[in-house]
Amino acid sequence: MSIHIGAEPGQISETVLMPGDPLRAEWAAQTFLDDATCVNRVRGMLGYTGTWRGQRVTIHGSGMGMPSLSIYANELIRDFGARTLIRIGSCGAMQERVAMRDLILAMTATTLSTPSRGIFRELNFAPCADFGLLRAAVAAAEAKGVPFHAGGIYSSDVFYDERPDLNDQMVRHGILGVEMEAAELYTLAARHGVRALAVLTVSDHLLTHEALPAQEREQSFGDMVEIALHAAFP
Ligand code: ADE
Repeated sequence: MSIHIGAEPGQISETVLMPGDPLRAEWAAQTFLDDATCVNRVRGMLGYTGTWRGQRVTIHGSGMGMPSLSIYANELIRDFGARTLIRIGSCGAMQERVAMRDLILAMTATTLSTPSRGIFRELNFAPCADFGLLRAAVAAAEAKGVPFHAGGIYSSDVFYDERPDLNDQMVRHGILGVEMEAAELYTLAARHGVRALAVLTVSDHLLTHEALPAQEREQSFGDMVEIALHAAFP
């Protein structure tokens, strides 16, 4: 076990799907995995390991924001040998052409800062998705007929943003959507030589001010889990 993950050695798969919400991890494991076993509940952060089409997979919550994701991703990689980490989460759309429930596959993620800021200092590191995972996710979204967009996203440090001018600049520079975790996941993956991707569903729209009702969020979340699983095991 590590500081924040109570699993025994060998209880976590090399492939980990990471929703922000621990209850989404539980729902996804119960819905999509066979023989799902709970492997972590420390601080209420749930992780489950089971199989999907015979392949072993762990679904583990990341919490909200990059500091929280950084704790779990670091321990999953360094202490449990995770090699493929796919964030599955929601985002706010930042372009007119991106509709509610559309999927965003994040090729790269802009930030003001990540928990890795202390390493890079004045350097602007460009975190990017693993190309093989991205390509497989594109193929899975096309096969499933789920509308998707591949491009840059913004990993923000705040949900309640007091700097709307920053969002305006993101919109102006073609950023597809805003969430709060992917940039640090991609940075950690680069540091440790593992693969990462963020697959996101649009749950709210910064330009039209729409927001998905809870039930529709669940349906879109299910599509996203399936696409992430297909990307991990093409
Ligand atoms: N996740 C989902 N919607 C978001 C938003 N509008 N800002 C930041 N993170 C989000």
